[in-house]
Amino acid sequence: RAVAVGAAVTLLAGCAPGHRDRPDHPDHPDHPAHPDRPAAAGKPGATATADALDVQHYGLDLDYAVTTRRLTGTATIDLVARRDLSRVVLNLRGPQTLSVRVDGHEAGFRQGGGKLVITPAVPLTAGVSAVAEIRYRGTMGTPKDANGTPYGWIATPDGAQVLSEPDGAPTWFPAHDVLTDKATYDFRVTVPRGRTAVANGVPAGHHDHGGRTTWTWRARDPMLSYLATVGIGDYDLTRSTGPQGIPIIDAVDRHLTATAAEDTRAALAEQQAVLRFLIGRWGPYPFSAAGAIVDDDRLGYALETQTRPVYATDVDDTTIVHELAHQWFGDSVNIGSWRDIWLNEGFAVYSEWLWEDQAYGEKYGATLDASAADVLALPAGDPIWKVTLADPTRAQLFDRAVYDRGALVLYELRKTIGDQDFWRLARTWAGQRTQTGVSTADFEELAGRISGQDLTGFFRTWLHSAGKPSI
Ligand code: ARG
Ligand code: ZN
Repeated sequence: RAVAVGAAVTLLAGCAPGHRDRPDHPDHPDHPAHPDRPAAAGKPGATATADALDVQHYGLDLDYAVTTRRLTGTATIDLVARRDLSRVVLNLRGPQTLSVRVDGHEAGFRQGGGKLVITPAVPLTAGVSAVAEIRYRGTMGTPKDANGTPYGWIATPDGAQVLSEPDGAPTWFPAHDVLTDKATYDFRVTVPRGRTAVANGVPAGHHDHGGRTTWTWRARDPMLSYLATVGIGDYDLTRSTGPQGIPIIDAVDRHLTATAAEDTRAALAEQQAVLRFLIGRWGPYPFSAAGAIVDDDRLGYALETQTRPVYATDVDDTTIVHELAHQWFGDSVNIGSWRDIWLNEGFAVYSEWLWEDQAYGEKYGATLDASAADVLALPAGDPIWKVTLADPTRAQLFDRAVYDRGALVLYELRKTIGDQDFWRLARTWAGQRTQTGVSTADFEELAGRISGQDLTGFFRTWLHSAGKPSI
């Protein structure tokens, strides 16, 4: 969630008509993350498709020298070829590959155009698992997304922050960077002694050797690559137990100002209540750990990195609601294509509205109806109505429209199908175990099936048309 969501992003947002065949579409083959896009020097081959590869596990062994920003990594990737493959295509942008082995044998590789194309000595056989070991190294900077926002591995004065939505993962590890392939992760992160390294999942110990410390974290809930994170800094690590007995592990920068430290502590203490609230609305928490990373380096936005969101220093309860709601919507139930991002952000903002309604509705008038009315009060000429919600451009992925109109769709849908069907729909949706991703069409189909109504016109108005609906 951006701190000042809207203004800055909206200004940059284009208003081109929606077509997947245009190059700015998030799923267009020219999108740097798209695996079908042939490597610069490579031939577009039958080997390079999204469905060809199923990564099951990444073992990321990273060594980071904070002062020189040097990242040295070994990625040990357990994968299964979904059909016979003579080449394996991963995404890697920035760090340079030093060597590749597949099943212990040296493999050929070519890196360029954001791709790492690996040619194993022996072609891979469909259904048979293999282990690729990739050594790489790079000097890290502050990569920017399509809107100029820092993302990916962001070097900070005392360490690093990692927020990779939508396609920043390849800035720090060789990833099968698609929305259709979840994997488990192990992280071993070596940092200068005295620094702390945190990642997704649960800690599995740390040890000092010479002037360095190696921190180990295990993320056993299958995860998309953009949700993987590492935080390196001078953190206090705290652990408590949340609902369902899950560990809540927080990493908070020791150098926050006194006020920020106080506010952060108060906000993070709300995680328990927020989790209970969200479980009450959407069903069981989908993962085996939770928690937060709060660093002092003014990134300006938060990200729902799985089990351990990254927050900016102005973290408050509403932002926590937003990022924790994404654990259900986006992380557990994942979209298979960026064009459907409204399903992630819409449910996250709608969760904010529900929380504010119960926490501040009576006292400050922040009711659900008032939140929806605020969006509906925006005049027809407002840029928010220019976006086609179910078909944003790459520059519109984080447009205010995706967030606020996304929540408004759910608000209007609830009015249309009634409370009982709405909650049945929402819980059914949230409880899906998705591996390759769900879509707007899937959501429409489920809404129609549960309500027994023909919602074609409703979704045409609220999702598939630009312009302010007249109601
Ligand atoms: N999904 C994040 C959130 O709503 C926002 C990520 C913004 N990412 C970016 N590259 N600008 O919490
Ligand atoms: Zn969000």
